[in-house]
Amino acid sequence: MSELGSQRLKGRVALVSGGLRGIGEACVVRFLAEGAEVVLTDLDAPDSEAVTAALARHGQAASYVRADVTRAEDWERARAHVEAHHGRLHILVNNAGTDLTGPVESLTDEGWRRIMAINVDGVFMGTRAFVPIMAASGANFKGGASIINVSSIMGLVGMSEVSAYNASKGAVRMFTKGIALEFAAKGMPIRANSLHPGFVTTPLLQQGFQRWVDSGAAEKAQDLVDMVAGRTPIGRLADPSELAAAAFFLASEDSSYMTGAELVIDGGWTAQ
Ligand SMILES: NC(=O)c1ccc[n+]([C@@H]2O[C@H](COP(=O)([O-])OP(=O)(O)OC[C@H]3O[C@@H](n4cnc5c(N)ncnc54)[C@H](O)[C@@H]3O)[C@@H](O)[C@H]2O)c1
Repeated sequence: MSELGSQRLKGRVALVSGGLRGIGEACVVRFLAEGAEVVLTDLDAPDSEAVTAALARHGQAASYVRADVTRAEDWERARAHVEAHHGRLHILVNNAGTDLTGPVESLTDEGWRRIMAINVDGVFMGTRAFVPIMAASGANFKGGASIINVSSIMGLVGMSEVSAYNASKGAVRMFTKGIALEFAAKGMPIRANSLHPGFVTTPLLQQGFQRWVDSGAAEKAQDLVDMVAGRTPIGRLADPSELAAAAFFLASEDSSYMTGAELVIDGGWTAQ
């Protein structure tokens, strides 16, 4: 057992989309440490170096399904894997996401549709695929099953030249409230909440900063890290494990009275 692990998710099965890197990977690590069985999905081939290394690190309680969150048939494959190997699902983290920045008049139709497909369609399709099995699985646990949709502070407040990402993450926030009320109205044992990270040190953020550097908006990525840290009340970026701690809370029975809510983990960014 890891030193983090209290085994408070023992007996539970979790699926994390985009689980190979960043916040998703941190969720996988935390859920495993808490005793859950975890299915991770991502774009990489099952026999790729990244997947082989991840499964070797995570051990036998983890398994991998290649699934593009924008493809309904891939979600079906993930659902079939969960049913065949576990027969139940208690925790779904719709985490996979991407970004897109730039002046609105420079955004292409293709870029807009891509970010909506990954960030919005992906969350919808993942939810749709797993609601029946989660409704059946959630009845045995206090607080029931838990859907955690990863939005962003950019789903709460706007930012210049981030309009497409703002729109996608705002959609995740409101979709989550809609399903939360639907499940509650029907007495289904599934809670749904959105998680709103601030700036987190992950490959996505690093690639985004590199693009700003490449476009001439900054001299080096470290300048952007320092700028963001300087504008964050806590004075630094987040570590992915700090988001995984929040996801664990939403997954566990400690959040049993919480549904349709927003959990903001942003070092104070949106309090300003
Ligand atoms: N890093 C941040 O500062 C930050 C802030 C707020 C919100 N978020 C959100 O957190 C989530 C995770 O972000 P991250 O920073 O860990 O990103 P990341 O790029 O570091 O990791 C995301 C993972 O998702 C996978 N992925 C991308 N597209 C996919 C698809 N179509 N199907 C399946 N998997 C796909 C990637 O391969 C990658 O492994 C995203 O939804 C992101 O928008 C991140």
